[in-house]
Amino acid sequence: MVAERVRCRGLQDRICSADAAASLIKDGMTLGMSGFTRAGEAKAVPMALAERARTEPLKITLMTGASLGNDLDKTLAEAHVLARRMPFQADPYLRNAINQGEVMFVDHHLSETVEHLRTRQLGPVDIAVIEAVAITEQGGIVPTTSVGNSASFAILADKVIVEINLSQPQALEGLHDIYIPTRRPAREPIPVVAPESRIGLPYIPIDPDKIAAIVLTEKHDSSSTVLPPDADTRAIASHLAEFMGHEVRHGRLPETLQPFQVGIGTIANAVMTGFIDTPFHNLTMYSEVLQDSTFDLFDAGKLDFASGSSITLSEARYQEVLPKLPDYKSRLVLRPQEISNHPEVIRRLGIICVNTALEFDIYGNVNSTHVGGTKMMNGIGGSGDFARNGFMSIFVTKSIAKGGNISSVVPMVSHVDHTEHDVDILVTEQGLADLRGLAPRERAETILANCVHPSYRDAMADYMDRAKARGGHTPHVIEEALSWHARLRETGHMLDDPAPSAANG
Ligand code: COA
Repeated sequence: MVAERVRCRGLQDRICSADAAASLIKDGMTLGMSGFTRAGEAKAVPMALAERARTEPLKITLMTGASLGNDLDKTLAEAHVLARRMPFQADPYLRNAINQGEVMFVDHHLSETVEHLRTRQLGPVDIAVIEAVAITEQGGIVPTTSVGNSASFAILADKVIVEINLSQPQALEGLHDIYIPTRRPAREPIPVVAPESRIGLPYIPIDPDKIAAIVLTEKHDSSSTVLPPDADTRAIASHLAEFMGHEVRHGRLPETLQPFQVGIGTIANAVMTGFIDTPFHNLTMYSEVLQDSTFDLFDAGKLDFASGSSITLSEARYQEVLPKLPDYKSRLVLRPQEISNHPEVIRRLGIICVNTALEFDIYGNVNSTHVGGTKMMNGIGGSGDFARNGFMSIFVTKSIAKGGNISSVVPMVSHVDHTEHDVDILVTEQGLADLRGLAPRERAETILANCVHPSYRDAMADYMDRAKARGGHTPHVIEEALSWHARLRETGHMLDDPAPSAANG
């Protein structure tokens, strides 16, 4: 069994305990670890690190692909191991430590981290810890359910620790496509010309001498936390499907549409599942996280191919999909996040990008990360990579949050992740605002008419009237622009005198 997984001669001698492997990691080091949206993270070595931190001072900088599963971000934050963390997280405990100022969190576009490492604008990476299904005869590392930043971490690090996860199916071998952009000057174009393009190797090529330790594990990935569709997310999906139909009828999109990117979370997953009940067919995805919706669409015969950087599924779907991986394999590829999210490729393929906003404003600026303008939620993830470079940039959100105490459409966003220049379409359960070609005053009218919850419409119309009376290309009552957020902080509701329906959501 182990010989099938560690096939490179001589490397079996490096199999050791997680504690022994973790002892290579010293206080102050920078670690590059596998893991992308709860998929394919190294599982044993970080646990051993957290344990060690209980008895000795140990602070590290931790870089990953994106968020970790198995409560690892929580465990590491609780053990106070994390001095610095990048480029993404989604754990409530770590979120709290970040918002207390205890962990320095660098919220990075997911396509950029390894580019900055490669050019020494960041780093160096001392040790890479990578989960793998196998090490090939030549010492190549075969990742598991995510690629994320693993390839560049392993290539750039001084030493590599490999966690061979015996519970991950060997059928994963062959799924990955590892391509590293050539160095500048005279960098070559990235030759992805379709979601199904394979341009690299099925393993991470490294010098096997760099593999300092191999740890055997059996722990599963954590399941995703997305919730099933509800009435609001179904309404959002249906507005979007209707709009796509409109675009097809006007000859702006083919019936197969164009490759989709769909962001993380409950809303985006539900929106994609909604495409099952549409006439569109032979769809493709060029995305980063492949969620339940990807496999729902495969099973419904709607989706031809999906390219991503990780597979993150609910418990039920995990149990169904992993054993059937050989059936899906010819329609799937997992790439480094640098390639799945690369601006050059996103623009070339003409991706339709669907991401979720926490809030957006009357001019179309989007906040995806900061609650109340100050508290980090998860991070920008890949939404910026896609929103700026996509064929069509769509943001979805429910029109109200927290039982109606919060309007997700506000006069001015309290933090900007995506500027009005990057946002084409906004959708709430109320309707869809098509902002393409509109000037700010027109954008505001369209958003008010289509996206704002009825319980906030009068207040928003009043704000807009008074702003317009003052004039300006992008009218604002500037001293009032963030008053909804300030009022929420003071009174628990965004409105002065909420109507009962708003309080009840
Ligand atoms: N103000 C404060 N809180 C808000 C809010 C607002 N305007 N809008 C939503 N929320 C809260 C919800 O109430 C919910 O809180 P809970 O966890 O206490 O229930 C939480 O935010 C998540 O919202 P939900 O409606 O369940 O949406 P989601 O699971 O789809 O997540 C984001 C939404 C924005 C947090 C998530 O998509 C994200 O982190 N996006 C940024 C990264 C990204 O887009 N990556 C894309 C490429 S992978």
